[in-house]
Formats: sequence, structure tokens, C-alpha cells
Amino acid sequence: MLKDLVKNLEPSSTLKINEISNELQNKGQNIIRFGFGQSPFQVPKDIVNELKNNAHQNTYLSMQGLKELREVVAKYTSNKKKYNYQSENVIIGPGSKELMFLLHVIFDGEIILPTPSWVSYAPQAILGRNKIQNLKTKRENNWFPTAEDLEKIIKKNTNKNYLLFLNSPNNPSGQVCKNLNEISDVANKYNLIILSDEIYSELTFEDDYKSISDFCPEKTIISTGLSKWCGAGGWRLGYFIVPDSLKLIKDTINVLASETFSAVSAPIQYAAIQAYDKDHTDFINASRNILKSVGKYVYKNLSSNKVLINEPQGGFYLMPEFVTKKFKSSSEMCKNILKKTGVALLPGSDFGFDKERLIVRLSFTDFNGQNFMDEIKDEHNVSEELIKKFAPKIVEGVDKLKKWSKTL
Ligand SMILES: Cc1ncc(COP(=O)(O)O)c(C=O)c1O
Repeated sequence: MLKDLVKNLEPSSTLKINEISNELQNKGQNIIRFGFGQSPFQVPKDIVNELKNNAHQNTYLSMQGLKELREVVAKYTSNKKKYNYQSENVIIGPGSKELMFLLHVIFDGEIILPTPSWVSYAPQAILGRNKIQNLKTKRENNWFPTAEDLEKIIKKNTNKNYLLFLNSPNNPSGQVCKNLNEISDVANKYNLIILSDEIYSELTFEDDYKSISDFCPEKTIISTGLSKWCGAGGWRLGYFIVPDSLKLIKDTINVLASETFSAVSAPIQYAAIQAYDKDHTDFINASRNILKSVGKYVYKNLSSNKVLINEPQGGFYLMPEFVTKKFKSSSEMCKNILKKTGVALLPGSDFGFDKERLIVRLSFTDFNGQNFMDEIKDEHNVSEELIKKFAPKIVEGVDKLKKWSKTL
């Protein structure tokens, strides 16, 4: 009774690892959750209060999203970028993931996915019935595509439309894309549009975050939302910012929105106004500082000649590669690690790597971020002592993985 298209799809692996970890934990095993990544911080209190104050909002809102919210989002974004976005450019959705899915459904062309890529892009592209072009990347280029490799794919048939997914800071690599200028040159030259997934952009560890939209705004759809910086993944509010030049895409997503989810939950949209209208710089800076320090701790203590890692530059993740011939696939290796050490990781094959490549995604969010944040206040140097006190599972997991890697 199922369509061929969906027969081979499996539940998103990030959600699956969470369930397996829960099961093992319920059986009494000590599990270190380096598999699933969600913000370790709580939603700022003023935003939670706004949600409480708006619990009575019970009407369907406009399908594109509440006008006041779109206005503050446009202002917030225009202040950070070189482009003057208006409320009309913003579409509010129940998480950016859903909006990406609708984009796949309406787009007619080929989807270019750099390897590694977030787990949901490829299944969504399959559901959208578009051909996927995988684009290999290298550690030396921060795991982002070069313009040359991108152009090679497009040059094979310049009559087609292309949609490139660019996610910086990246899940799973934790790296930031540096060669935006040359990528934008390719976008300007061909029928290429870019979905710039900026869901981790507020959590970039350095202050100089640049978006591909700074280089080719007319060719870029920005995708982001509340889930990561605001610790509100479960609230399900994300948005697209679509430039005037891509109005047809925006209007068509709106039609699909009206025929599917109708509008995002009203109280959440009212609360989100507070998130974008009021200044949360202190909260964001404290989050970044903690994540940067914890990420650096993992990087420093786990890297060796057996474990290759690029230092994380933003978000929640890093991507260790184990130099060994002991395992046939990254998923076999992950199972071995889980069994031997209790550390849950995700195999690189979930992110588009060949299964033989012994690479994994490690999420360094298994700690109570709120307690950590309350303690450090304005401190810039987060000492190892503080990491040991407030992120003990991270320390324990790194220790176990390190010991395990010595057996390779
Ligand atoms: C790279 C990336 N993009 C998008 C999302 C989805 O975000 P949202 O909660 O807005 O649907 C995630 C969340 O896991 C992510 O890691």
C-alpha cells in the first residue's frame, strides 16, 4: 500500500539515536548522549513569559505569518546583513525543516548537496522527486565545496535549475564556510539558487559571521529560526527570508503552507516577537562562550594521530575521523563504541559520507546549560574546572572515547 518513493525511507537517524539511547538508559546503562544535538540552554525567561501572556491567542493567523513578527524578523535580519528585507520577504513556518520540505516539493531542478550534509536534506529531496547531486568536500576546505567543484556539476547541463544547500556553521562538521565569495560568483553566473541554512549562525564562535546572502542576496533564501539560539526546538518556529527576485518561490510556498499547516501556532508567534524585538545579546554571547569552550575541550582532549578533528567554529558539533582499519563501516564502528563505552554517536554515512569512511558526528550538548550559564555570568575564560563541574558527561564521554581510540 506504500508508494515506492517512501518504501526505503527510515525515521530521521538523529531522532532514532535518541530513542535507542533512551532504551539503553531505561535498562540501567550509563549512556553519554553525543548522538542527538539540541540546545542545552533554556528559553530566555522574558520570551517564556510572553508565551504565557499569549496563551489566549486562539485564532488562525495569516498563512505567511503574523505581520508584527515578520516585521521584527525583517528588521533584525536587515540590521545584521547588507540587504534591506521587508516583512513581505519573510515566511513563518512550523520549524525551518517544514519550509525546506515545501521548497523541495515546489522546486523543479537538481538539488546539490555537499558531503557532509544535514540528515534531512536528502530524504526531503527524494520526497520532492528531484535528482540529488552529491558534492564532495575536503577537510582542508573546512568540509565546504569549492567553487570549481560546484561549477563542474552545473556545467554538465547549464539548462537545468540548481538548488544548493549551504549550511554554515555546519551540522555535522561544526565548520564555518570561508569561500562564500567564489561560491556566489558561481551562483551569479548560472541558474543556481542557494538555500542558506543559518540555523546555527547566532552560535558562531567568532564575531565575524558572514552569510552567502552578503555576497549574492538575490540568489539566496535564508533559512533559520528559534530552535538553536533560543533553545526552543520544541516550540517549532522557523522562517525563510526570500528576496524579491525569488517572489514566485515565496508565493508558491505560501500556497502550500495554506493547504498544509495553515499557520504556525498563534501563541508561539506572539512570543517570538519578543525574541526578535528585544535584545538577547547577553544570552546569546553566554551560550556561544560556553559552547565554544566545551567544543574546544572536546577537540583538544580527543584529537590525536588516531583521531582527526577540525576545531569547531560554531554550533553544537564536531566530526572526529578514526584512523583505523578495524571496522567495515562507520555505523559498525558506532555500534561498537556504544557497546564498549556507552557513548552514542552518529555515523558519517548518515551525512552522506561513504559508509567505509570511519567518521562520526559528535554533539557536545549533554550538559545542563542553564546551570552553567548562571554560574559564569560575564566571565570570558571558561576554565577546565568549570567544564568538569558543569559538563561532567562531556568530560566522561571524551575520556571514554579517548581510551577506546587507544585500542585501535
Ligand atoms: C542543519 C539544520 N537545519 C535545520 C534544522 C531544523 O531546524 P528547525 O527546528 O527550525 O526545523 C536543524 C535541526 O536539527 C539542523 O541541524
